[in-house]
Amino acid sequence: MTDQTPIVRGRDFKEYRIGGAIAALLLLVALTWQIIAIFDGQSLTVPETQWRLSQPDGNYARERLAYDALTARTRLMDERFRTGPAPSEEAPVPGPRTDHFLTEEPFVGDPQSLTQTWLTADARSLETARQSERVVGISSLPYPNAALFERPEGRDWRFGMADTITHLGAVIILGFSLLLALVLAVRGRVPIAYGRSRRTVKRFNFLERANHWMTSTSFIVLALTGLVIAYGDTLIRPFGEGVLGSLGRISTWGHALFFPPFAVGLLIMILLWTWRNLPSRLDLHWLASGGGFFSDDPDNPPARKFNAGQKLVFWAAVLGGIAMIASGVMLMFPFFGVDLEIIGWIMLGHATLATVLIAIFIGHIYIGTVGMQGAIWAMWDGEVDRNWAEEHHELWLKDLEARGDPARDG
Ligand code: HEM
Repeated sequence: MTDQTPIVRGRDFKEYRIGGAIAALLLLVALTWQIIAIFDGQSLTVPETQWRLSQPDGNYARERLAYDALTARTRLMDERFRTGPAPSEEAPVPGPRTDHFLTEEPFVGDPQSLTQTWLTADARSLETARQSERVVGISSLPYPNAALFERPEGRDWRFGMADTITHLGAVIILGFSLLLALVLAVRGRVPIAYGRSRRTVKRFNFLERANHWMTSTSFIVLALTGLVIAYGDTLIRPFGEGVLGSLGRISTWGHALFFPPFAVGLLIMILLWTWRNLPSRLDLHWLASGGGFFSDDPDNPPARKFNAGQKLVFWAAVLGGIAMIASGVMLMFPFFGVDLEIIGWIMLGHATLATVLIAIFIGHIYIGTVGMQGAIWAMWDGEVDRNWAEEHHELWLKDLEARGDPARDG
C-alpha cells in the first residue's frame, strides 16, 4: 500500500515551471533562427579564404601571388618533362620561390559571385566530367592540395551535408528540446503523488549503474564532439579561428577516442537488460494511456521493471548505437569495400541518425532529472523511494516484495 500522505501536483513545482518557460523562450529564438536559415538561400558553399604570397620579412607582395607562384611551378614541371629526372637527382620540391611563402587570408571579396562563376563554367563541363570515373592530368597549381579537383557529385554531397542535414538536425534537436521545455512549463514536474515515503527499494546494482554512466558519458562526449564537427563553423568560428582550430582538433580526436567505451558499455547494457526490455502486452496499454504522463493521478498504467517508454529508449540506444558504431567505423577506415558515393551516403546517414538519437536522449535526460521527481536516484545510489516505485513500476515492486525484498528506511 502507498503511504497515504497528501497528493502532490506537478504544478506545485513552480520553480521548475518557471525554468521551463525561460528555456522554452530561448529555444524558440534559436529554433526560429534555424528555420529562417533553411530558407535564406545560402546553400552554396562559398570560399572563405584565399592565398597570397608574402616575404619572410612581412613585406607582402599580394599582386605577385598568381604570377610568381604559378610561373615557378610551371617551370619546374616543364623542366622535368623535357629532361626527365636524373636517376641520382632528388625530385624537385613543388612550391613557390623559397624567399616567398603562401599565407592564408581569412577574407574573400564577394565569394557568392565567385562561386556563381564557377557554377556557370561547371554547367558546361559537367557532362564531360561525369563521364569519367577519374580524370588524370598535371596540375601547375603551386601547392599540392590545390591540385585535387572536386567531382561534380561532391557538390551534391556537400549540399546534403552542409545544408540539409545540419539545418534539419538543428531543427530536430532544438524543436524537441522546445517541446520538453513547454511540457515542463505547462504540465510541471511529474511528482511522486503521495510524496516521499522515506523508505527505499533497490533498483539498479553497482555494475548496472557504473555501466550506465560509462556509456552515457561516452555518448554525451560523442554527441558534443560530433556537434562541434558539424556546427563548429557556424557556432564556434565567431569566437575566433584559433578557438575553432583547437576545439576542432580536440573534438576530432575525442570523437574517435570515446567510441570504444561507448561500444563496450552498449554491449554490457545488451547483456544486462535485453530480457527485461522484450515487448509485452502491457506495453500497448501503457502506450495507449501515454504512460499516465499527462495527469497527476498516481494510478499510472502498470509496468514491470521497464515500462514501454523505457523500452523504446533501450532499443533506440541499442539499435541506434549499433548503426552509429558500424557507420562510424566505416568512416574511420573509408573505402574498404565501398566507393566514394557509398561512403558519402554513410556519412549523411551517420549525421542524420546522430541528430535523432541526440533528441531522444535529451528526452531521456529530461525525464531522468528535472522531468520526474525521484527518478535520478535509481541511477545515482541505486535506491528509489517506495512510493515512486509503486506509482511507476507497480508490478516490478510486487515481484520484488513477493521475493522477500522489502523496502528499507531511506
Ligand atoms: C546525464 C545523462 C543521463 C541521466 C541523468 C540518465 C538517467 C537515467 C536514469 C535515472 C535511469 C533509470 C530510470 C529508471 O529508474 O528506470 C536511466 C536508465 C537508462 N539510461 Fe540513462 N541517463 C543519462 C544518459 C543516458 C544516455 C546518454 C544513454 C544512452 C546511451 C542512457 C541510456 C539509458 C538506458 C538504456 C536506460 C534503461 C532504460 C530506461 O530506463 O530508459 N542514459 N538513465
